[in-house]
Amino acid sequence: MALKLNTKYVEGFISSEELKGIWPQVEAAHAMIRDRSGAGGEFLGWVDQPADYDREEFGRIKAAARRIRSDSQALVVIGIGGSYLGARAAVEFVQSPNYNLLPKDTPDIYFAGNSLSPTALCEVLRLCEGKDLSVNVISKSGTTTEPALAFRIFRELLEKKYGKAGARERIYCTTDKARGTLKELADAEGYETFVIPDDIGGRYSVLSAVGLLPIAAAGIDIDAMMQGAADARTAFAEPRMENDAYKYAALRNILYRRGKQVEVLVSYEPGFAMMNEWYKQLFGESEGKDNKGLFPASMIFSTDLHSLGQFVQDGSRVMFETVVSVAKPKSDIFLESAPSNFDGLNFLTGQHMSVVNEKAAQGTALAHIEGGAPNLLLEIPEMSAYECGFLFYFFWKACACSGYLMGVNPFNQPGVEDYKTNMFALLGKPGYEDKKALLESKLV
Ligand code: PA5
Repeated sequence: MALKLNTKYVEGFISSEELKGIWPQVEAAHAMIRDRSGAGGEFLGWVDQPADYDREEFGRIKAAARRIRSDSQALVVIGIGGSYLGARAAVEFVQSPNYNLLPKDTPDIYFAGNSLSPTALCEVLRLCEGKDLSVNVISKSGTTTEPALAFRIFRELLEKKYGKAGARERIYCTTDKARGTLKELADAEGYETFVIPDDIGGRYSVLSAVGLLPIAAAGIDIDAMMQGAADARTAFAEPRMENDAYKYAALRNILYRRGKQVEVLVSYEPGFAMMNEWYKQLFGESEGKDNKGLFPASMIFSTDLHSLGQFVQDGSRVMFETVVSVAKPKSDIFLESAPSNFDGLNFLTGQHMSVVNEKAAQGTALAHIEGGAPNLLLEIPEMSAYECGFLFYFFWKACACSGYLMGVNPFNQPGVEDYKTNMFALLGKPGYEDKKALLESKLV
């Protein structure tokens, strides 16, 4: 049992003829992915990765995770964007958004270097006080400002606490195999390193050491996760109409061509909130270019039904929803009836709370469809390591196909550079002097 795309709520919006009409383009996109012949084809290493990964490194990842679990009460994971979102999504999806607070025999996992907020960094430093620590710094380029700055601070802290030699045993670097400042530093200092493959971009990298080390340190079964991804690779290999990844890509493109501008990924599980963030980066960076793209948004229901639900039901008709429904919750509560029915809720009793959640989802879907917001439904059996791997791969394959259907390169991110240039200029980085003067004149 694994993820299934259910199209029952979109049938009133999209005909089977429309789906058949777009399919030759799906086949063309498939050929570009298979042959690596489309734009960005040199970044398709993730396609076969679940079947064809470096077993020796995988063993070292497991060994490092075991070491971290035995010598550390906290692991600080330093990275930004694709170098952090996947690991955090997996920890919250498989374990819990409250992972750090729950009783456990694995270390707390803190994420740092994903902003330039001194408040956020000081908070992680405070949370680490008095705890035995390890640090996993993750950066493909090895030069990204946010993680580099955080690593500078945590490295100093580890060296003060454990001495240079002790710190060396607690610093794990995940970076390019040969290039970059981080690789040079790791080699010079003798830190253990893991590789981000050349042909895998940040947002497609969670099943490399980028995600696997922190995920394994959090006690998650990474063999099961890789098996889920490997099974998804087989399930989504061919351009048949039963290929749910391609079908999802086709349906979202039909809606886009009809004028929808926003896709909202919705879940009724708070443990999905960081998966939403991972999905937003994947689709936002992959499709949002050349003045094209569906804006990827997200909501957690039912909480957001009490805020953004109004807009979905009744506001501008710009969006459709992709709702992730989880068949089997990790825990459930049987609702007993109260003799006096003091709160009038006895109509909910005699069943599990998950049924209430499910009925809320069904009622909401029907209301939103009625209001003109088409719904795609992704049904997943449970929030396990296996399903997490399957889901990552499903979204990767869908996103690559969807990007090609939109006519963009789904594997580059040219727009990310613009803010960096301005930031470096305003901060006085050598080489940016002319730009600095120009920008400062605009700020007065
Ligand atoms: O998806 C991407 O490529 C980006 O989000 C990067 O992962 C992010 O910018 C971090 O880059 P790096 O790993 O080089 O520090």
